[in-house]
Amino acid sequence: MIYENIVLIGFMGSGKTSVGKTLARYLHKDFVDVDSVIEVEQNATINDIFKEKGEECFRVLEQKCINKITQKKGQVIATGGGLPIHSTIAENSLIVYIDADFEVILNRLSAKEHAKRPLLQDESLARSLYAQRIQTYKELATLSVDANQKIQVFIHVIVDFILDNRVL
Ligand code: S3P
Repeated sequence: MIYENIVLIGFMGSGKTSVGKTLARYLHKDFVDVDSVIEVEQNATINDIFKEKGEECFRVLEQKCINKITQKKGQVIATGGGLPIHSTIAENSLIVYIDADFEVILNRLSAKEHAKRPLLQDESLARSLYAQRIQTYKELATLSVDANQKIQVFIHVIVDFILDNRVL
């Protein structure tokens, strides 16, 4: 299989964006963050889109956005935590699951980063979303990495895997 893009999936705040930026730098690829593209295109924050248009509308925007992004090749793409649950990701993508424990995520996120995520505001709801989603993340992933450690510790696992496989 020749993969056209590297797509990072995982729960909110697991570090997909930070990992993606680092990975893109190591591999000399472009980095694209789906949420950021949606925010620019809609000229609104994710919080505002949820408040003003609702989650369903956001999910439609996500599917359209990932479809458009994956028309290009050779990118590292960070997705929102709900994207692989609600949308389909192009088959020829190398899907990497950034696997962090719920407690680690909560402890790691700054107050500012926490506040940006509407579905993280009610902790028990977020905890049940986490429990519901992890199986899907694992099933979709070609590679799962233990992201409970610092990026520098596990980034090489992803880089080595990618260099051993063919990614355009
Ligand atoms: C969401 C995750 C967020 C963002 C939106 C919904 C989710 O992205 O897309 O708030 O459903 O898990 P991050 O995973 O980058 O926090």
